[in-house]
Amino acid sequence: MGRRLFFLGVFLAHAIQAVANDWGMGEANSKIDPANIFRPLSTPAHEISTIAIFTLAITTVIFVIVSGLLTYSVVRFRARRIDDGSEPPQVYGSGPVEFAWTAVPVLIVFVLILTTARSTYTVQAARRPPGAVAVRVVGHQWWWEFEYAGLGIVTANELHVPVSDPRHPTPTFLDLESADVAHSFWVPRLAGKTDLIPNKANVTWIDPQEPGVFLGQCAEFCGTQHALMLLRVVVHPRDEWDRWVSAQRQPAAEDPSVANGRHVFESTACVSCHVVRGTAATGRFGPDLTHLMSRETLAAGAALNTAENLKAWIRDPAAIKPGALMPAMNLGARDLDDLVAYLATLS
Ligand code: CUA
Repeated sequence: MGRRLFFLGVFLAHAIQAVANDWGMGEANSKIDPANIFRPLSTPAHEISTIAIFTLAITTVIFVIVSGLLTYSVVRFRARRIDDGSEPPQVYGSGPVEFAWTAVPVLIVFVLILTTARSTYTVQAARRPPGAVAVRVVGHQWWWEFEYAGLGIVTANELHVPVSDPRHPTPTFLDLESADVAHSFWVPRLAGKTDLIPNKANVTWIDPQEPGVFLGQCAEFCGTQHALMLLRVVVHPRDEWDRWVSAQRQPAAEDPSVANGRHVFESTACVSCHVVRGTAATGRFGPDLTHLMSRETLAAGAALNTAENLKAWIRDPAAIKPGALMPAMNLGARDLDDLVAYLATLS
């Protein structure tokens, strides 16, 4: 019993510490806190956070009243030895009390419905201002495709957007689709979960009010590698965003010193699943690799994008991400090195 209480105590202390950190009471943690639902930085996330805290406050008051009355009754009316054998007064029904315990919960639920409906409307009825960026997001097993309307940019897993100044909002609207099964787009500090459903387009939007990197995750079970369907949103200041756009619009780099690697790439099955603009690779089944090296991670966040990891990934994708739909190409050591050298030039 003593040990159990001890472990319960340790657990509670950790839980309180974690909540305190989440609420920003710990050390300044905005830099290391890229996925905290309690630190919203975008209108949809603000709306959700406000309504969550409001609901929590109301239910906390209810909890305190109910458990207080219960504790009082348990203590005050606990079993005692009664000598005269008499029973306490018996009460059967009370019109006013029954009316009160029906009307009060109905009123509380009505208030919660109204506030929730207002928040939902604020998020769903938002108009697209002229400066809005539009991105088509396609969920795949198990990675994210991002196609920027009108910019000719296609990238994967790392969504880049401009910061949105509340005085001149430049939100990013995301048209969500799925290439296979249901997925869900969730970046806790920017927006609530929105599902990506086959044959149905859903819409969400974000207007990040600070630059930075924000982490997200597929939030709908979608198969073996659901847990490694990570995503990150990189929010740029305006000038940096313009530079990112013009860099991504460039065709793939040409480097004669990696000609053999390019030949390996163009003469294997790589080309039937990947695009490298300006080459024979035009497959759309896997991520666009035109600017592969501009991404920080590989395989939807499963590994950092280093030459070593890239080589390990191509040699045997299943070793990094069991179940990944990319097959091992069984290349010879020399071809593999040359291929990695070629891919490393796709900046
Ligand atoms: Cu995609 Cu879970």
